[in-house]
Amino acid sequence: MTTTRGLRDREEPITMLTAYDAQTAAVVDEAGIDVVLVGDSMGNTALGYDSTLPVTMADVRSRTAAVARAVEDALVVADMPFLSFGLEEAESVRNAGELLKEADADAVKIESGPHTVETTRRMTEVGIPVMAHLGLTPQHVNRLGGYTRQGTDEEAAAEILDLARAHEEAGAFALVLEHVPSNLAAAVTEALETPTIGIGAGADCDGQVLVVDDVIGLGEWSPPFSRQFGDVRGEMERAIEDYRDAVETGEFPGEEHAHVEEDLEDVYRPD
Ligand code: KIV
Ligand code: NA
Repeated sequence: MTTTRGLRDREEPITMLTAYDAQTAAVVDEAGIDVVLVGDSMGNTALGYDSTLPVTMADVRSRTAAVARAVEDALVVADMPFLSFGLEEAESVRNAGELLKEADADAVKIESGPHTVETTRRMTEVGIPVMAHLGLTPQHVNRLGGYTRQGTDEEAAAEILDLARAHEEAGAFALVLEHVPSNLAAAVTEALETPTIGIGAGADCDGQVLVVDDVIGLGEWSPPFSRQFGDVRGEMERAIEDYRDAVETGEFPGEEHAHVEEDLEDVYRPD
């Protein structure tokens, strides 16, 4: 069983992948991946939006519950969707708590900034483990003007390092660093005891995370810092086209897929 405390003491790199449904989560868990993130990237992947902004608490609750039913060993982290936190403190904590109480998440992840330090502290105090997330935070796409690399000048890099320290001090059990220079990620990793988990942040983090659709090759597009380790989309296309052809040519279903009930000899036939 992976625990939030266990991640800190690990020697080997931490492995983390997203999953948004029970069947995928079962494969991820059985492969021994340490952390399953029910990411709000479900907006771009499973739900077909062109950003994460439309994802709702109901979406994350339902998907997290499905993933949690399938996972036996990995830590299940639910991503808090756009505007489910950061408005009112009490509402943020209640929303996070709901993902533990009603969807069986082990922890939540929050896209972090100066406004989430106290929220992280409050959640941690009441027993909700928080994974922080700095660098590129896709819920801010409209403010950032695109999904661009963050922390690329001295000032921005120093701000990320300061925020990383502040979230560690507030109790975050891990920190995702997304799309930042690898030397910045290395510096943050060095400065913190909290484990860092990188995506597009180089090899010096304490762990790595990717979107499962990218890893298995399910999506049509994946970011340049990702790698396709498989071609599931190609295999799905082949299987589905073969099924279509088999039905259209009458080759499926065959006799072995059907059943004749002898007792029905007298079934009425119009001719
Ligand atoms: O939603 C997501 O998949 C994420 C990871 C990329 C860290 O936030
Ligand atoms: Na996310």
